[in-house]
Amino acid sequence: MVLAAGESSRHTFAIGTNDFLLDGRRFQIRCGEIHAARVPMEYWRQRLKLAKAMGLNTVCAYLFWNLHEPKPGEYVWTGQADDAEFCRIAQEEGLWVILRPGPYACAEWEMGGTPWWLLKYDDIKLRTRDPHYINAVKSYLKEVGRVLGPLQITQGGPIIMAQVENEYGFFGNDAAYMEDIRRALLDAGLEVPLFACNPPDMMKNGLLTNLFQAGNFGGDVVNNFAKVRRIQPTGPLFCSEFYPGWFDTWGQPHHLGNAENYLPNLKRMLDMGASFSIYMAHGGTTFGLWSGCDRPFKPDTASYDYDAPISEAGWPTAKFFQTRELFAKYLLPGETLPPVPFTNPVITFAPVTLTEAAPVFDNLPTAVKDKTPGSMEAYSQGYGCILYRTTVPAGEAATLQAAAIHDFGYIFLDGKRVGILDRRNASAKIVLPERKVRAQLDILVEPMGRINFAPEMADRKGLIAPVKLDGNILEGWEIYRLPLDARMLANLKFTNAAPAAHMPAFWRGAFMLKKAGDTFLDLRGWGKGDLWVNGHCLGRYWNIGPTQTAYAPGCWLHAGENEIIIFDTIGSEDHTVAGREKPVLDELHPEKDFAQSLRQVVKLNLESATSVHAGTFAPGADTQEIKFAAPATGKFFCLESLNAQDGKPYAAIAELDLLDANGNPISHNGWTIAYVDSEERTAEDGSAENAIDGQTANFWHTEWKNASPNHPHQLILNLGEVQTISGFRYVPRQGEGDGRIKDYRIIIGNGLVQP
Ligand code: GLA
Repeated sequence: MVLAAGESSRHTFAIGTNDFLLDGRRFQIRCGEIHAARVPMEYWRQRLKLAKAMGLNTVCAYLFWNLHEPKPGEYVWTGQADDAEFCRIAQEEGLWVILRPGPYACAEWEMGGTPWWLLKYDDIKLRTRDPHYINAVKSYLKEVGRVLGPLQITQGGPIIMAQVENEYGFFGNDAAYMEDIRRALLDAGLEVPLFACNPPDMMKNGLLTNLFQAGNFGGDVVNNFAKVRRIQPTGPLFCSEFYPGWFDTWGQPHHLGNAENYLPNLKRMLDMGASFSIYMAHGGTTFGLWSGCDRPFKPDTASYDYDAPISEAGWPTAKFFQTRELFAKYLLPGETLPPVPFTNPVITFAPVTLTEAAPVFDNLPTAVKDKTPGSMEAYSQGYGCILYRTTVPAGEAATLQAAAIHDFGYIFLDGKRVGILDRRNASAKIVLPERKVRAQLDILVEPMGRINFAPEMADRKGLIAPVKLDGNILEGWEIYRLPLDARMLANLKFTNAAPAAHMPAFWRGAFMLKKAGDTFLDLRGWGKGDLWVNGHCLGRYWNIGPTQTAYAPGCWLHAGENEIIIFDTIGSEDHTVAGREKPVLDELHPEKDFAQSLRQVVKLNLESATSVHAGTFAPGADTQEIKFAAPATGKFFCLESLNAQDGKPYAAIAELDLLDANGNPISHNGWTIAYVDSEERTAEDGSAENAIDGQTANFWHTEWKNASPNHPHQLILNLGEVQTISGFRYVPRQGEGDGRIKDYRIIIGNGLVQP
């Protein structure tokens, strides 16, 4: 009989030749991921009860290093960061725990979970053996061992396994680095079995043969496990991330999982005797300023609903009940399914108007002076916004250009907004209007989360120097740090005077409740920014969607008056908030975007193309690396599909990487989609950006819902600068489905023409 995690006597856990072994007996892990930091701690037990009632016997949990070590050597393990308590509750609810301490997590979390202060070293190489990085990692992991070591199964706790790094094969090829991390975990006192995880195609990179390998994939389980088997001929089969849905990024369609894919694949794994972890079983919310950003620059929404079986607010969905029904047939001896627990009460409230405002420009702290602007990290600031101020001489309209903007720069001339620098354009350039006299120039920079994927993670924020006006470097700056922390909020001076249009301001108001309950704050009248309720930061919002509401957990509300503060960077006309009974997660408003039409309508001028290469892709889902006869140079890279493997009109690409002269992938930093002839954005997110975001689980797909245009299809990347390209790597759409390309052409060049 299988003992439940809640039973307190000591147990053993091991990786056997064919199976995981709990107390020496076969144990099929039915796991699902939940991040303690994404659920209010008051609700941990309710969510874990739901996980158990869905039929899971294990939960998988990342630890986010940056939450636990906000300053070097200063550790936090209390409140929302009390992961030990989360593990204890899991154990009480009869769940085992798989711990994923990092140091890198990814997870659409700020900088993939690594701390911003590492970026104070100018040349730090994250996720390598760089001593600045690896020494910090060792101290952190030692601390993980101190706090969570006693919760291992060997010591009577629920933790049965721990993960080394995360999908390292996506990033690098240095097995010695993986060994360093493995060693650091052992030195920290981890004695449960350790493992690494990767999408099967990436497993060979940085592979440690002394480490158990798990595969991450969202479908096509038979093929994917076959790939794992080629690398690891024996041992249990374990899919450590199986995707029931996907996360959302601002401005892109809301993601729903593929229901036809989800259940049959889970069933297949159960029948194969394989183990798995559903990523996410319950996604929750990325509260605070912790949301990350996909590459090249796709900031993640605060809602991390993920279309998971347990919704953002902890409601069992149809997928939950289907999963429960399926799992009920596969329980191990001794396991039982508890009843589905209660959900938290929901309340609503009628619109209230926030009438008090505290304009940013009336609430500036003391300035730091600098000759040229530095990054936010250079001024020891981790999060929030930052304002750069200087003066510019009288003169004609002139071009203001920074090396880069990370991520949005609101530009004010003598206190009036004159433009916005927008990282989505991968250029930081605007025309400043004519000045009759010397004028004050303010650039308020609003960073989104740091990129959580690939080498672009060293994502320093702020205005990136040099900043030039018509080519002349601007010197003599005042820098105002706006950390958006509790102290700053407490010191804001609110008045009833309305700020001028487009002025960034904090707004304050209150809503009255008879009793507390979960609610969804409707933010559709607002622009872009962050919000707090009773001092809890509920995350970022943005009127372009797809998320239009903010989840306000009832445990952070109370009967009587509840304070709400909204920081709006672009100014809004409607200052009301209402509490709804349901979230709005799928409403896009491209017409509200301050950057109208981000896609330049351009086409590659074939006449000026420096290189054309033609070829035929192999069928199947394997990654393919293509070498050109000779390297080509150009700022634009066009892949043109001529037909598909299945003869249908569609083209799809999971991922494209370009290879430099030495055959190494070129950073996606500064890349944009210059042109795509067709993309499905109604029935699913088939946006072209998915082909260059580093993720192989999502994909660019040409339209199929309202139209089905035929080949040739063209996807043109703007690389931001001229690159030497010796070849490319193509990851076909994974899983089952249309769109795998057969014959194609590559065109590389610099010239553009309007179509
Ligand atoms: C990868 C990572 C996870 C998460 C998912 C996408 O597989 O390992 O941390 O980022 O992608 O949600």
